Amino acid sequence: MIRLESICVDFGGLRAIDHASFEVEAGRITGLIGPNGAGKTTAFNVIAGAVRPSAGRVLFDGKDITGLKPYQRAQRGLARTFQIPHEFTRLTVLENLMAAASAPEGENVFNVVFRRGSFDAEERAIYDRARETVRFLELEHVIDVPAGNLSGGQKKLVELGRALMRDPKIILLDEIGAGINRTLLGKLADKIKLLNTEQGLTFCLIEHDLDYVSRLCDHVLVMAQGQLLTEGTVDQVRNDERVIEAYFGGGKYEAQA
Ligand SMILES: Nc1ncnc2c1ncn2[C@@H]1O[C@H](COP(=O)(O)OP(=O)(O)OP(=O)(O)O)[C@@H](O)[C@H]1O
Ligand SMILES: [Mg+2]
Repeated sequence: MIRLESICVDFGGLRAIDHASFEVEAGRITGLIGPNGAGKTTAFNVIAGAVRPSAGRVLFDGKDITGLKPYQRAQRGLARTFQIPHEFTRLTVLENLMAAASAPEGENVFNVVFRRGSFDAEERAIYDRARETVRFLELEHVIDVPAGNLSGGQKKLVELGRALMRDPKIILLDEIGAGINRTLLGKLADKIKLLNTEQGLTFCLIEHDLDYVSRLCDHVLVMAQGQLLTEGTVDQVRNDERVIEAYFGGGKYEAQA
C-alpha cells in the first residue's frame, strides 16, 4: 500500500534518512521499530507529507504521491497520529472527532463544531459518526470533557478516533502506546486488531515495546541510522545480530543501552 523508494531526508547537515526503501503491505499491521533517532518518525513524516525528502519517491496504492500536500494524502485515505498528541485542548472529545472529519487540513473547524442546532445532513452524519467512534473507543464517559483534561492514554485514544473519522485506508500510529497504563494499552491493542480484522484497515505502527509489537504485528521493519536494517517477524528480527547490535552495540546508542 505504501512504498518508499530510496528516500533521503536531510536536516541541515544531518542525514536523518539515508536511501531507505521499504513497503507497508495492505491489510496488515506492520511494526516499524529501531533505536532512538533511527528515523522512524521522519519516515512517517515523509509518508504523510509533513517532511519533503531530498531524494526518492513515495508511492501510495501504486501512485507517486511524493509531490502531494498532507491534506491531499489525507483525502486519498492516509491518516496518522502524532508521537505527541495534537488534540484541540479546549474542544471536547466529541468536538475533536467532529473537527477531524470536517476539516482534515485543520481549517474551518469552528464552523461545524459551533453551529449546534443548525446541523445540515452532512453535519448530522459527522455527528453520528463521531458518537459511534466514541462508543467504539469506550470514551463515552468523557465525551463532553475538554480533551486537554484527559489522561495521556485517553488522549491517545482520541488521536486514534480523529484518524478514524477521516475514513482512512491506512493509519500510521507513532508510539500510541507510550506512557499509557496497561489496561488502556490492552484496550488500544484490541481496537487496532478489530479494525484490522473486521474492517480490513491497514496499520503501520512505531513502538518501542517489542512484546506489544509482537502481540499486534506479524511483520516488522527495523530501521537504524536512517536505513532499513532488516524485516521479518518479531521473533526473527529480535534474534538478529544486526538488530541487537543496532540497539545495544555502542556508537551513539551506547549510553542508552
Ligand atoms: N525537524 C528536525 N530538525 C532537525 N533534525 C531532526 C528533525 N527531526 C528529526 N531530526 C533528527 O533526525 C534523526 C531521526 O529522528 P526521528 O525523530 O525520525 O527518529 P525516531 O526513530 O523517530 O526516534 P525516537 O524513537 O526517539 O522517536 C535524529 O537524529 C533527529 O535528531
Ligand atoms: Mg520518533
